[in-house]
Amino acid sequence: MPHSDELLWGAVGDISRFAALLTMAELGLADHLAHGPLDTGELARRCGAHAPSLRRVLRELAGMDVVRPAGPDTYDLTARGTALRSEVPDSIRSSIRMLGEEGFWYAMGMLPATVRDGSSAFAKRYGHLYDHLAKNPTSSSMFDDYMRRRAVPLTEGLAKRYAFPATATMVDVAGGKGHILATVLHANPTMRGILFDLEHVAAHATAALAAEGLSDRTEVVSGDFFASVPAGDVYLLASVLHNWDDEDAVKILRNVRRAMNPGGSVLVLEVVLPDDETPHLGKDFDMRMLAIFNGGTERSRDEYAALLGQADLALGDVVELGAGASLIEAISR
Ligand SMILES: C[S@@+](CC[C@H](N)C(=O)[O-])C[C@H]1O[C@@H](n2cnc3c(N)ncnc32)[C@H](O)[C@@H]1O
Repeated sequence: MPHSDELLWGAVGDISRFAALLTMAELGLADHLAHGPLDTGELARRCGAHAPSLRRVLRELAGMDVVRPAGPDTYDLTARGTALRSEVPDSIRSSIRMLGEEGFWYAMGMLPATVRDGSSAFAKRYGHLYDHLAKNPTSSSMFDDYMRRRAVPLTEGLAKRYAFPATATMVDVAGGKGHILATVLHANPTMRGILFDLEHVAAHATAALAAEGLSDRTEVVSGDFFASVPAGDVYLLASVLHNWDDEDAVKILRNVRRAMNPGGSVLVLEVVLPDDETPHLGKDFDMRMLAIFNGGTERSRDEYAALLGQADLALGDVVELGAGASLIEAISR
């Protein structure tokens, strides 16, 4: 643990570093530098920026080892900076853009107001996140991309660590465009899958699953999980329950329990909070849940067990998947 001043001043500096990264992502600097170094004037011309301002951002970015000087007033992309290119497999560009989107910035900046009155300043200004995304296709597609990329290590862990029944139908509840479902089905060639999400998201899932060559083993169903979910054997709820308060989370779980075929199971993939005061990624995520959702919250293992119990489900194994996330298995009681 660094000295507290270092930690505190580091956190203060993180705002500037994030803003510099956001500028790099928004202006597409990594794509412009992908084919070799450019001088600041030429880079500014290509990305439509004010050269003297851009020069100052490049100096900050060089300190973060995402660009490096390659001659007088000239910068090149580093290996780390390559992750900000749009088309590389591990691209972080749209995730940074999504987290730097006006509404997300506003939500974090207004956290003190949210904490004062216990009601999300983001929700007051923009409405529920998923209604906001339904009206803003660009933000919605950045959000889906962020969720997909964030899930990659967890999804691989899930596909490897969980013994799916060979002929099961998995329902990916609120599964976005189906990136997790696709990984599970590729690893389990005799399984079938149903992707369930809101209409504006599900509309894109059909094409995404077709691109994965999975049209014949998948069905895409759109709807509202507070009304009902499709029948199946294994239910996946990945990064879903943490968006909702206990009452709503139990409603979702009860609808899953009601639709589940006999002998079915529920897999909840979430960051599980430790019971102590140690630093944990889940506590960072929890600030975002607090800022954006009324009632959205990260939970501990006991809190998940209590939620499941209210939906007549019993907690089974809890397996750490890495990147701070766990797989919580539940079966009907
Ligand atoms: C945080 S994302 C998780 C996506 C995916 N499970 C993953 O882990 O990448 C939450 C998802 O819930 C969906 N969603 C929100 N409200 C919903 C509702 N009422 N019914 C069905 N899906 C909903 C959103 O469209 C979004 O895709």
